[in-house]
Amino acid sequence: MTTTLFTGIAELRTVSDAGTLSDAALITTDGIIDWVGQADELPDDYNIDETIDLEGRTVLPGWVDSHTHMIFDGDRSAEFEARMAGESYQAGGIAVTMEATRSAGEQRLEQLLQERIAAARAGGTTTFETKTGYGLNTESEIEAAKVAARHVDDVTFLGAHLVPPGADAEEYLEEVVGPMLEGIAKHVQWIDVFCERGAFDEEQSRRVLQAGIDKGLGVRVHGNQLGEGPGVSLAVELGAASVDHVNYLSDEDVEKLAASETVATMLPACDLSTREPLAPGRRLLDAGATVAIASNLNPGTSYTSAMNFCVTTAVLQQHLSLDEALEAATAGGAKALRRHNVGEGKDPQGRPAKGTLVPGAAADLHVLDAPSAIHLAYRPGMPMTYQTYVAGQRVFG
Ligand code: NIG
Repeated sequence: MTTTLFTGIAELRTVSDAGTLSDAALITTDGIIDWVGQADELPDDYNIDETIDLEGRTVLPGWVDSHTHMIFDGDRSAEFEARMAGESYQAGGIAVTMEATRSAGEQRLEQLLQERIAAARAGGTTTFETKTGYGLNTESEIEAAKVAARHVDDVTFLGAHLVPPGADAEEYLEEVVGPMLEGIAKHVQWIDVFCERGAFDEEQSRRVLQAGIDKGLGVRVHGNQLGEGPGVSLAVELGAASVDHVNYLSDEDVEKLAASETVATMLPACDLSTREPLAPGRRLLDAGATVAIASNLNPGTSYTSAMNFCVTTAVLQQHLSLDEALEAATAGGAKALRRHNVGEGKDPQGRPAKGTLVPGAAADLHVLDAPSAIHLAYRPGMPMTYQTYVAGQRVFG
């Protein structure tokens, strides 16, 4: 058993009812938080093995990046450049990544994934979800899911990302809900669908999601990214853990989200990169919805895992308070993955909860090289992540 004491914490953001503490300390044992509080109230009955003095820095829960597409090969910078020159985003670019991903091979996909995880940890991310969705045939989708399951906390099956070029939509859907789902289900926790004009319509999306539910998978939905549509209402109807993008929402969509357990996940880096309007975070929060912020790391619409940037954007441009943005990128992301604290630091499955710093929760820490977290937005874009800890182990800094 190893017990570690963190001292010298100028500001500790617990993202819990305990709120924000100044001049704080934190104790972890074997990857779990044991105690948090004021430094001058430290209990004296602990056998401390190691003390880490953070010398006046800020500690917050590691970012919970609940929406990424990290398993891919290929480069789409030309598509991005054309978009910056005025082209609009077309989901068809997914096909370019598909070719590269299919031919990459398992070893290269794994290496790329590990590099992306390391880069994200250097920006304070400690919990990762990734989707499949760039293989788009049974063999490649299963390969991607297996690689992901070795490194990522939660894996989502997104065979219904796009109908591969040249394929018949009905035949492809048969494959998705048939052999693809059958082969992939044991490697993933979630099923997702790109419910959007140009991808899958409501009926097709319902079919995919229902097949996943029948296999025991949880539901997530890509919805309302490029225009109003059925994504949000379908997600709420099927009890999805999250509906992601949510750029174009009717009043009814917002009301449904507010009355549900479905988290509205906002992807601000993607919105900027596609020049879509930023998701209406203020409107969602004012209505009472739970929101998450995620990076949407992918080669087409958001080639970044920089959660610091996403949080800064939410404060500066989406008019969230710092508290709201921090919560959305930690506890909100955890709720979107159903890894949030439901009591005594445990998630709904009894695992150490993510996205909060309370006793019993995972010792996933993000140390900012700043005396308070507002510096994320006050000094936008400055290097701010000093150290990252996953289950008490330093993985960056
Ligand atoms: O979340 N919207 C659908 N899927 C990805 C982008 C896919 C791509 O263009 O490669 C997204 O933005």
